[in-house]
Amino acid sequence: MCGIVGVVGGKSVTSLLIDGLKSLEYRGYDSAGIAVINNSEAINIKQVGQVELLERKTNESSLSVAKIGIGHTRWATHGEPTITNAHPHSNADGTVFVVHNGIIENYKEIRRILEKDGYTFISQTDTEVIPHLIDYYLKSNSDFKDAFIKALNDLSGSYAIAAIYTKTPDSIYVARLSSPLLIGVGKDQNYVASDASAIINHTQKVIYLKDYEMATVTTKKVQVHNFKRKADVKPEPESLDFDLEKARLGDFPHYLLKEIFDAPETIKLASAGRIRPKSNIVKLAGLESVQEQLKYIDRIVIVACGTSYYAGLVGEYLIEEIAGIPVEVQVASEFKYRNEPFSKNTALIAISQSGETADTIAAINKVQDYGVLKLGVVNVVGSTISRITDAGVYCHAGPELSVASTKAFIAQVTVLLEIALSLSDGKSKLYKPLINELAEIPTKLISILNQSDKIESLAKKYSKYRDFLYIGRGYAYPCALEGALKLKELTYIHAEGYPAGEMKHGPLAMIDSNFPSFVIATGSSLTEKTLSNVSEIKARGGPIIAVVSEGNKSIKNYTGDVIYIPKTLEQTQPLLVGTVLHLFAYHMAVILGKNVDRPRNLAKSVTVE
Ligand code: G6P
Repeated sequence: MCGIVGVVGGKSVTSLLIDGLKSLEYRGYDSAGIAVINNSEAINIKQVGQVELLERKTNESSLSVAKIGIGHTRWATHGEPTITNAHPHSNADGTVFVVHNGIIENYKEIRRILEKDGYTFISQTDTEVIPHLIDYYLKSNSDFKDAFIKALNDLSGSYAIAAIYTKTPDSIYVARLSSPLLIGVGKDQNYVASDASAIINHTQKVIYLKDYEMATVTTKKVQVHNFKRKADVKPEPESLDFDLEKARLGDFPHYLLKEIFDAPETIKLASAGRIRPKSNIVKLAGLESVQEQLKYIDRIVIVACGTSYYAGLVGEYLIEEIAGIPVEVQVASEFKYRNEPFSKNTALIAISQSGETADTIAAINKVQDYGVLKLGVVNVVGSTISRITDAGVYCHAGPELSVASTKAFIAQVTVLLEIALSLSDGKSKLYKPLINELAEIPTKLISILNQSDKIESLAKKYSKYRDFLYIGRGYAYPCALEGALKLKELTYIHAEGYPAGEMKHGPLAMIDSNFPSFVIATGSSLTEKTLSNVSEIKARGGPIIAVVSEGNKSIKNYTGDVIYIPKTLEQTQPLLVGTVLHLFAYHMAVILGKNVDRPRNLAKSVTVE
């Protein structure tokens, strides 16, 4: 999600703003920018992609002596990730600069009114109304603080805002409503930020702004005002007990466990601003520039490696069922050597957490000359894949540090579901139910995470086995493949994922009391069929762990080792099942004493073919 940082005072604020933006990178973003004032003159620099690129741009210009500035990492919601849409936004004469997190719900209305009054808008964002609105009130002889408050009173939605004005080059003005904003109190330098990690290196003394509060922050002073009650508020600084490394890992013993527990937040981050249940809208800013081309797509080829490939398989089921477009998923290392025909109506979707996987990059390069539309589902902003594709949707899962991918899988499946919904153009009967259900998934995931101890006990019981079979049908099948991969990566135990319906065609021969099966039989029209496979396994003495939906009573006839997941639609089950399987593999790895965050022989980013 978007991030805000601001600095006033000291020798030069530019490098502090860049450092602050870098520490906000983990939130996910697709463009960044800063505005600084130097001797009443403002300089506004913006860049699509990584903060590092913005930093290079700032190095080239003469910003070194600015004493006040604001910065922002933007995660596109209204309008594509472009320099024009990136923050800070300004009024026409370049005196007011604003950065904003959140959504201004009535921006279209405000924009219409201001346009009638002669204001011109250059971006597609909701944020741009704010500097123009402030400008509007400044013209009626208000001082900046007045104009700022008047503008705030016109806005509805959620916001954390920071603004600067060339005529008051000693003050940063901030405000919040339902979006975090804090003020860091330093010595001869004060800071504002949406997140403590942006300022923790400079001060531990902070003032948390509350809803309907605005503040004027100068080098020496912080004045807080409640603009709803029209009353000044005495600021109460608190001490921040915040160790950056600890903040990243929290109380978790491993990054892997932390990242598995990030799943509910990951879904929120991957859907914020994109899925709008109230208005029934799915809006993917990253695909807006190719909207026209997407109308003519009659075939989709998904390419990826590892866990991203399995997320792609879930995506295949989703896009075909929801959008009705035929999809084929290929392992990138195979795809690049195949000789298959392409038409101009084909879209290639490359899925990659890192955006740097060599085989996936080679797959994209292969279709370069075919006129194929190249799309990316990528987590790392500004990575190679995000640059060589025509358009794409970022996962916004934040940095994934553990080698084995978990939260990226959750984010990728969420984004693929969003793409399926967006391609269906509202025509699928699943459109509305899925929009509503996705909003429920984070809460349902919490109930799964609460079963971590129970899953650990099961892992203990099964840690003596050296072979595992994971089986499922429908959406549970790609989950079975992902569960088996996670167990292999983390524990080095032999595991295979199989479609449950294929048991009789081979795998059943392996089953005996030393070969357990992990069965995914979550509620669907196929559950009964999967359960008949379970009875075949039981008849051959194979131990069984089952993941089923709450309320399933028949599973007890086959095994007592059951993990229940909350009821959900079949299409959203992979998000819940994936987390169960990730937890099981994690606990097995810990019990077996493996290096969970850094499994042997594996790399996080495989940049060689
Ligand atoms: C490596 C990682 C896996 C990941 C795969 C694809 O094998 O260890 O966790 O799934 O690469 O990586 P990508 O960055 O393209 O998603």
